[in-house]
Amino acid sequence: MTSDTTVTQTITLSTREDETWWRQAAVYQIYPRSFADFDGDGIGDLKGITARVPYLAELGIDAVWLSPFYPSALADGGYDVADYRDVDPRIGTLADFDELVTALHAANIRVVVDIVPNHSSDQHAWFQAALAAGRGSAERGRYIFRDGRGEGGELPPSDWVSMFGGPAWTRVADGQWYLHTFATEQPDFNWDAREVRDDFLATLRFWADRGVDGFRVDVAHLLVKDLPAELPSQAEIDAMDAASGSHPLLDRDDVHEVYAEWRALFDSYDPPRTAVAEAHVSNPERRARYASATGLGQAFNFDLMGADFDAAQFRAIVTDNLAQADLTGSSSTWVFSNHDATRHATRYGLPPARGTGKKAGTAWMLAGAPREELDIEGGLRRARAATMFLLGLPGSAYLYQGEELGLHEVGVIPRDRRQDPAYLRCADTREWSFDGLGRDGCRVPLPWRSEGPSFGFGPRGAHLPQPAWFAQYSVEAEDADPASTLNLYRRALDLRHRLQSAERLEWVETSAPEVLHYRRPNGWEIVTNFGAAAVALPAGRIVLATEPVTDLLPGETTVWLAP
Ligand code: GLC
Repeated sequence: MTSDTTVTQTITLSTREDETWWRQAAVYQIYPRSFADFDGDGIGDLKGITARVPYLAELGIDAVWLSPFYPSALADGGYDVADYRDVDPRIGTLADFDELVTALHAANIRVVVDIVPNHSSDQHAWFQAALAAGRGSAERGRYIFRDGRGEGGELPPSDWVSMFGGPAWTRVADGQWYLHTFATEQPDFNWDAREVRDDFLATLRFWADRGVDGFRVDVAHLLVKDLPAELPSQAEIDAMDAASGSHPLLDRDDVHEVYAEWRALFDSYDPPRTAVAEAHVSNPERRARYASATGLGQAFNFDLMGADFDAAQFRAIVTDNLAQADLTGSSSTWVFSNHDATRHATRYGLPPARGTGKKAGTAWMLAGAPREELDIEGGLRRARAATMFLLGLPGSAYLYQGEELGLHEVGVIPRDRRQDPAYLRCADTREWSFDGLGRDGCRVPLPWRSEGPSFGFGPRGAHLPQPAWFAQYSVEAEDADPASTLNLYRRALDLRHRLQSAERLEWVETSAPEVLHYRRPNGWEIVTNFGAAAVALPAGRIVLATEPVTDLLPGETTVWLAP
């Protein structure tokens, strides 16, 4: 361990109970099924994560966010939850969960879990009870059931299209229909029902009592709906103002009544539990409501995911978001990759129109491309430069497993091995927003070793096929290479603890428009050359560089300067 690491750990220990730990945390997202497989069934598990806590500690992150690990039929990779207060037997047990939390806390890593409140799995006991109890029952009242149109009710209540393509209504045996914003297996809850609200409060308490430090709230903007007797058409819905606060389906003002109750619960803990909203809303003012201190406290900002590798776009996004954070009192969040998006090394290796989307709102969800279209080295070079730009910013950084290895998206997965409903429901029609290869390519199990079954992911195979090129990106290979992306992340995450200070930055004007230079209040400086040509190197003590530097700052390179 370097002396830098020692300094960091002392600081972290002394602020263990600090209520503001989340404000500038580096949060590492683990997609449990694809992280590490302890028992050899091809699916990652909690024991696998526990066994890798030393890896996470050495990486230097402040918290992990666990994507769903609850019992699930896996119709949507676990975002179809059958029981909110248990662990999927393929992933482990509650005792394994407690063991994992203990191990992470002992390593000074906080734990954030994913909460999926808009919909359950159709396997959830409540949905099964709703099917059994029949129309008009209290059990059906927990979900959104409607009679169909047409003489015999044989037509769906409206022509709405699900987020994954295909109809948003499915008919049940007695002829009624239920609403599912996502896959058929994900019935939407009725958040007007007090019972639903109380049950989620019980779920949050359940995990908070087990020592969870915070929650990531799935599609936080969708919970509360106001459906009139006469439903508008999809075209009418699309034409409505999504920022009005009274849209029938999304981002309604009254959804914040739910989060006010959640906040009261979070604040009853010491330290208060934190939350971050995944809210796809139409403008910064609407997003700020989720980030408010009387609500969830923080909201994802996906703006950089939709940006090209471009200085002007990056600067405008950073400036806007820091101004917003000032207004809400929350801290800004920064994200390049997650389990829903094409990995950023790949996005930056594709021609701009393919790599970053132009479709408002869903731009960052554009899927991967065949490998031959990809500038593999260039994509990774730009991703390293962009990530080191991001890690210097004030606010919290959300990192996605595998990006620390510089992994590219896996573009080639046979159709019969694909799992993503967004792909399977849309692949033939290419309708709606998921018009590419879906999200499986960023969910392929991690390569820990350069050879062996499933590259060390587990003792046997992996639930999604890993390509041969994973060998060179394995933890084993990169650990041994001082210039690897893994060692770059380790160094940056270590230095970041000293770089972070007051949540501000000052832009330093540069002579070249493609170069961005900012200074933090404690004197640390970050300089990124977004252009292809080398430029003059700024004066100062370089402590980190994404490419070898001489007396010039090469193209597509970031350097950190310490005071
Ligand atoms: C969120 C999740 C995504 C999931 C969807 C439905 O967007 O991030 O993975 O498919 O919600 O739960």
